[in-house]
Amino acid sequence: MSASLATVSYIGATILFILSLGGLSNPETSRRGNLYGMIGMAIAVLATVFGPRVTMAGIPWIVGAMVAGGAVGLYAARTVKMTQMPELVALMHSLVGLAAMLVGFANYIDPAASAGLSGAEKSIHEMEIYIGILIGAITFSGSVIAFGKLSGKIGGNPMLLPARHWINLAGLLVVIWFGREFLNAHSISDGMTPLIVMTVIALLFGIHMVMAIGGADMPVVVSMLNSYSGWAAAATGFMLNNDLLIVTGALVGSSGAILSYIMCAAMNRHFISVIAGGFGTTSGATPVAGAQPAGEVVPISSVDTAELLRDAKSVIIVPGYGMAVAQAQHTVYEITKHLREKGVNIRFGIHPVAGRMPGHMNVLLAEAKVPYDIVMEMDELNDDFPSTDVAMVIGANDIVNPGAQDDPNSPIAGMPVLEVWKAKTSIVMKRSMASGYAGVDNPLFYKENNRMLFGDAKKMLDEVLLALKT
Ligand code: TAP
Repeated sequence: MSASLATVSYIGATILFILSLGGLSNPETSRRGNLYGMIGMAIAVLATVFGPRVTMAGIPWIVGAMVAGGAVGLYAARTVKMTQMPELVALMHSLVGLAAMLVGFANYIDPAASAGLSGAEKSIHEMEIYIGILIGAITFSGSVIAFGKLSGKIGGNPMLLPARHWINLAGLLVVIWFGREFLNAHSISDGMTPLIVMTVIALLFGIHMVMAIGGADMPVVVSMLNSYSGWAAAATGFMLNNDLLIVTGALVGSSGAILSYIMCAAMNRHFISVIAGGFGTTSGATPVAGAQPAGEVVPISSVDTAELLRDAKSVIIVPGYGMAVAQAQHTVYEITKHLREKGVNIRFGIHPVAGRMPGHMNVLLAEAKVPYDIVMEMDELNDDFPSTDVAMVIGANDIVNPGAQDDPNSPIAGMPVLEVWKAKTSIVMKRSMASGYAGVDNPLFYKENNRMLFGDAKKMLDEVLLALKT
């Protein structure tokens, strides 16, 4: 393939990626967005593999790597459950970081990569390598820890080292100092020591940054790492002089940063303190994993739940992580359809961090064919709870915790929540009194107008549906 055809293909792929992001911003156009993304990526891969920079001798290596990588990807996509998606995404981010690190080192060692460069050009090339490895290493180790935390292999409690901000600052100064040493190095072996020291510090910083994050704040970290992985890819693009990688990396980096900003606003956290690591953990108590329940709760049966729903004029359903675990979305839709036919005004309230990944609930409800126009954002219907007869919470916990508003010492203090307790009756559907992801007790369960429907969400909803129909 000629250089000009490769360039045209790259421009086409870039346009498709932009259209893809545009499509993904709305559930109704998201399928089309996905398709654009897939076509764009196919064009990008073909243009790169058959482009002017790959020799025939390199093709078998690339094909071998693609078959091996494709097989692992296919296996993962077929076996990973929807509830494990966030862990998989974190793992993918770590691979982008690892790739940026390895490409950086390879680029530095390869004499051909810097052949003919001198003066400012050489310094710029070396800065690209240094910064690329730095971002890659932070993304890699941070994402591995995020994977551990999301999969429960590492505890959710924040690890707060004494003087952690000073440690971070010292690390930053050392990285800047060694950056100077690296740029002044006269040979590759001279430059290797500062490069390795910086890499180790960056790896430790990534670990420290994510270890310091408390349970409920993980969503922000995941989207931050998403953004970092984009910048790592862009840095790789600069190192390899690949325009498509630069543009694609920048698209991922900036859209991830925008998502992080939206998440921060949703969680009432400060953007800058996220970047510094360990935000939202200086004030408030350390989350207590599996906090002990305090107070009396009033259980309710599925038949009585059906009775309440049948008599209601307006119902708001708040789905959470438990609905995903139980795969209860299809029964939820059946119940919704039944009640709508009986004239009940029924809507869904979606918290921005419900479940374990951005848009988790929207995806599940769309899969079950719940109409988009009754699926509302938290801000759109939080004021409507006082005029609602029944608020039905399905496998959600942290996102409906009144402690976030009432208890300044709560680890989730300040996080906006869906105010289900303001409805005439709230019903919480979950298996036990166990706490949610943040590990804090939920005072909602003990409110006078709250009822607990204990059991697996799918099983209980099946019973409710049966009771509604008979
Ligand atoms: P959680 O607070 O984690 O609560 C989920 C509840 O579902 C649990 O208390 C659990 O109680 C119940 N449950 C589990 N399996 C169930 C089943 N089969 N049937 C019925 N109930 C079941 O979830 P949430 O309210 O959706 O809040 C999300 C939390 O995850 C927030 O703290 C958020 O910060 C965090 N987080 C979110 C994301 C993103 S991006 N969304 C990413 C990482 C972390 P039982 O065990 O008693 O059943």
